[in-house]
Amino acid sequence: MSQSNRVVNPLIALSMLKRNDNSFNPFPWYKKMREESPLLYNEELDCWSVFSYEMVKRVVENKDYFSSATGVKKEQSLSRSMITMDPPLHTKIRSIVNRAFTPRVMKAWEPRIHEITNELIAKMEGKREIDFIEEFAGPLPVIVIAEMLGIQSTNMKKFKEWSHIIFSTPVDNSDEEVRIWKEAKLKAEAELEEFFNEIIADKRKNPGDNDIISILVKANEVGEKLSGEYIVPFCNLLLAAGNETTTSLIGNSIYTFAEQPEIYRSLQSNPLLVSHAVEESLRFRSPVQVMRRIVKKDLEFYGQQLKEGQLVFFFLGAANRDERVFENPEIFDLNRSNKRDHMAFGGGIHFCLGAPLARLEANIAISSLLKKYSAYEFPLTFELDPIPNSGVGYGLNSLNLLLK
Ligand code: HEM
Repeated sequence: MSQSNRVVNPLIALSMLKRNDNSFNPFPWYKKMREESPLLYNEELDCWSVFSYEMVKRVVENKDYFSSATGVKKEQSLSRSMITMDPPLHTKIRSIVNRAFTPRVMKAWEPRIHEITNELIAKMEGKREIDFIEEFAGPLPVIVIAEMLGIQSTNMKKFKEWSHIIFSTPVDNSDEEVRIWKEAKLKAEAELEEFFNEIIADKRKNPGDNDIISILVKANEVGEKLSGEYIVPFCNLLLAAGNETTTSLIGNSIYTFAEQPEIYRSLQSNPLLVSHAVEESLRFRSPVQVMRRIVKKDLEFYGQQLKEGQLVFFFLGAANRDERVFENPEIFDLNRSNKRDHMAFGGGIHFCLGAPLARLEANIAISSLLKKYSAYEFPLTFELDPIPNSGVGYGLNSLNLLLK
């Protein structure tokens, strides 16, 4: 291992890339890592980073050695949520919440997602210049998940405010800012919890057919108990895991079409390729670039000794550009034969629960936009910045488009 590699802390490197390089382009660095140190140890932080497809796959698929309980503090909203749990509790919760994302439930929501998409497109009508993230890619998943959770439109404004505060970051790192931010966040979390508790109580009395909370409440009635203490964290997790990621998927896709208009033209002449474009976008500009696990017990991994308690960061974004799996990985290829082999949704037992919903929303969004807009002019400002309120996100803060 070279001296220079040893001092690189991958997460610091990633955040530096985010701050210093306007284009936030981690891909050349990933390539170097895949070639030189696909399994990299950081002495200073006593943690590992994993960059190759094969190794990332091994990590996500080996729940016995790589734990998801990565030390989220008890008071943090994700502490009682399945994404930070291991079996057997994870298995039990997952088997119940799976019901909210079955193909039947997705099918039932499809017409409403079309309507919401068309309402957002109608609002852009007549405008020549829009911030696509603010007007379309941002609101779409938030409105969809709010309706899926059974939130009435009258409460939507409050709901959006709470989600915004909870998933924000402090303006700067000064003690005063951090204090103000923490206070606002705790208040919003408490209010959101109370709000969800009211919905849960209401759905126990008047359950609906396809909204998520009714599905969970009904599971309670047939004996497979998901106690109330897990329902609110689950709802919070849906907001945390589902909104920004889906916004990034739709935003990154449109960014890529603006960058390479020939892709947009191909889709226009053959709309059946939209689902290919969604998969390729997930691979090419993965909304979640890096996740982590903790070593559960000592093991030998690709010739290295991994010790219990060490953190392991795995770079999905690097795995998805691995030339040993994807031919010409730096090219956005609509006809890639192994297009669904990407790991943008993770893998193993924590494979993204919301993947069918994210795919459905992105397919509907892109198909509807294609019908409406015959071509794009290049955006006025063209920036690919990381979204600041997420440590691992890869997406746009804003994307100004000129519409024809
Ligand atoms: C898990 C990515 C959309 C809900 C995950 C994981 C990834 C991911 C990588 C695995 C985490 C791990 O292994 O530790 C994405 C991407 C999305 C997306 C790229 C959009 C393009 C959604 C949506 C929802 C959702 C729309 C729900 C509304 C979840 C949940 C988990 C999860 C509940 C935890 C599953 C478990 O622990 O068993 N997601 N996600 N995600 N995602 Fe997504």
